[in-house]
Amino acid sequence: MSQKPKITLTRRFPEAVIERAEQNYDAAVNRDDTAWDGDELIRRAAESDGLLISSWDKCTAEVIGRLPDRVKILASFSVGYEHVDLEAAKARGLIITNTPDVLTDATADTALLLLLAASRRAREGMAMVVEDRWPRWTPTQLLGVQAGGHRLGILGMGRIGRALAARGRALGMEIHYHNRSRLAADLEQGATYHASAEDLLRVSDFLSIHCELTAETEKLLNAERIALLPEGAIVVNTARGGIVDDDALIAALETGRVFAAGLDVFNGEPNVDPRYRGLENAFVLPHIGSATVDTRDAMGFRALDNLDAHFRGEDPPDRLT
Ligand code: DGY
Repeated sequence: MSQKPKITLTRRFPEAVIERAEQNYDAAVNRDDTAWDGDELIRRAAESDGLLISSWDKCTAEVIGRLPDRVKILASFSVGYEHVDLEAAKARGLIITNTPDVLTDATADTALLLLLAASRRAREGMAMVVEDRWPRWTPTQLLGVQAGGHRLGILGMGRIGRALAARGRALGMEIHYHNRSRLAADLEQGATYHASAEDLLRVSDFLSIHCELTAETEKLLNAERIALLPEGAIVVNTARGGIVDDDALIAALETGRVFAAGLDVFNGEPNVDPRYRGLENAFVLPHIGSATVDTRDAMGFRALDNLDAHFRGEDPPDRLT
């Protein structure tokens, strides 16, 4: 009989990750990549000592309460952890880990992609070419907003926010930010700190969202706060859809009060608000922030590092509870 710990991989993670999991564990893998609900997750966890989960797996207090006793750790293949009820996990003595650091650059690259695509009207331009609707070049066709020389407001100056700041500086943007606390000068790198989100919004010609989704940040970008943005601002979101009030953002995109938005994350994914489909100034992507081969491998390896540490009897490096 195998002495290896038993783990369950709730998704079809990258092949290199599955390979390593299968080498070191008695691993059950959801190779079909079917979406499991709470009941299915609990059923599949019956013989597991730990789970490698994704942000798709909603680990509510109810689900955590019904997990078999032998499950001692959930290692999430994500930096975000709003899909896990940390209080319930703590109360049950369940270890939760995430994957910080390894997806910083890929996600900041995606934010930059959205920032440029939205401000330079890439969706409209691409549609013209793909749908054979390009009459000819004209001096005033598809005029967008230049990033350089404008102010980039970063809401949430953690690792990803700071990585976007570096990219914004390279474009010649002036960096502003709001964070729960002011950063040390070596991390700030000359960026201007605003003590409130509202003060940041007032100066954000471009606004990029990088905070966590919590009870405090849910629908933070609502109609009142959008009204604080400079006329014709550009909004980028690679964090979580729940931070944006869709009704408010869509209304502002419709009138042009917000010039354009670049969105990689949505409320109720994958059921995106259908109104975004008809808005030419909404450049939208299907939550691909960290979707590079290297990054997704690194996320899986980092989650396995956490499981390995736990099963060696050590504290996992990215322990949240
Ligand atoms: C993350 O790591 O949080 C990504 O958004 C994938 O869920």
